[in-house]
Amino acid sequence: MKHLLSTADLAREDAITILDTAAQMAATQSREIKKLPTLRGRTVVNLFYEDSTRTRISFETAAKRLSADVINFSAKGSSVSKGESLKDTALTLAAMGADAVVCRHQASGAPHLLAHAGWLDSAVVNAGDGMHQHPTQALLDAFTMRRHLGGDRTDGRVGPDDALVRGADLAGLRVAIVGDVLHSRVARSNVHLLHTLGAHVTLVAPPTLLPVGVGTWPCDVSYHLDETLRDVAPDVVMMLRVQRERMSGSGTGGGAFFPNPLEYTRKYGLDARRLALLPPHSIVMHPGPMNRGLEISAEAADSPRAVIVEQVANGVAIRMAVLYLLLAGDDSTERAPIS
Ligand code: CP
Repeated sequence: MKHLLSTADLAREDAITILDTAAQMAATQSREIKKLPTLRGRTVVNLFYEDSTRTRISFETAAKRLSADVINFSAKGSSVSKGESLKDTALTLAAMGADAVVCRHQASGAPHLLAHAGWLDSAVVNAGDGMHQHPTQALLDAFTMRRHLGGDRTDGRVGPDDALVRGADLAGLRVAIVGDVLHSRVARSNVHLLHTLGAHVTLVAPPTLLPVGVGTWPCDVSYHLDETLRDVAPDVVMMLRVQRERMSGSGTGGGAFFPNPLEYTRKYGLDARRLALLPPHSIVMHPGPMNRGLEISAEAADSPRAVIVEQVANGVAIRMAVLYLLLAGDDSTERAPIS
């Protein structure tokens, strides 16, 4: 694996390797000395053209915990505001010796261009591009599902002991992904990865917030949340943020019209009543940032079933694993050990 651009082209074995490596990384993080020497002398550039809290900070934390040098580049306050192109920015980063470029961009395909245009020799990691992909988010989501629900689920949940779930996929897991699918790179990445790992995904959204061509995706589609909770009895309910900034009327958007908030919450919001419809072992996820009171109530977001804060913590382990696998050597025989 030279780059991580999309879950659509991530083989099952590669996905399992990343999840297993993240489990090892998570184990190192519970020790007193968290820092590993593995990427000493390597440089990771966080190249962010779009705002981020979780992804940018967790990539920075992950790189630092592996002893890499980190350069944070935000388009705001850089020469991008003077009109500098992606190509010239990439050439500048190459001249500074970046080993990995972690790229978030509002344009779908920008990380792919960085990886394949020949401007850089670095590994490129997609940290979210437009409405296209957010592969490390889907990986941290799968990691979180596996820790709670993975392995042999015939006798209920396995629990958070990594040894029990290592090597396991998510076969048979039922996942409902609810909300603004149209604008969601998280939904696209999750549908592909979860399908690869054997889970069954049901997308639940109003017809106006589903993309054209969703019928060709490897998942079911429903317009009715209550029906889905009752009939599918999902193990995981993943709520999506309503992305106002990508909608008409917001000044920058243009895709769909912003839905009536009261009607949206009534039909598609997760609240205490809907939580009570879920099987007892089900977990609630959200990639963040949340619109509390719109797609998820405070009661649901803060309930014992919610693993939203844990998703953030797991993001560090996943991003450590991805940087390690991309930078620490070309194959497992060459890589410095995780000690
Ligand atoms: N989930 C996610 O990508 O969050 P940020 O936009 O804060 O990085």
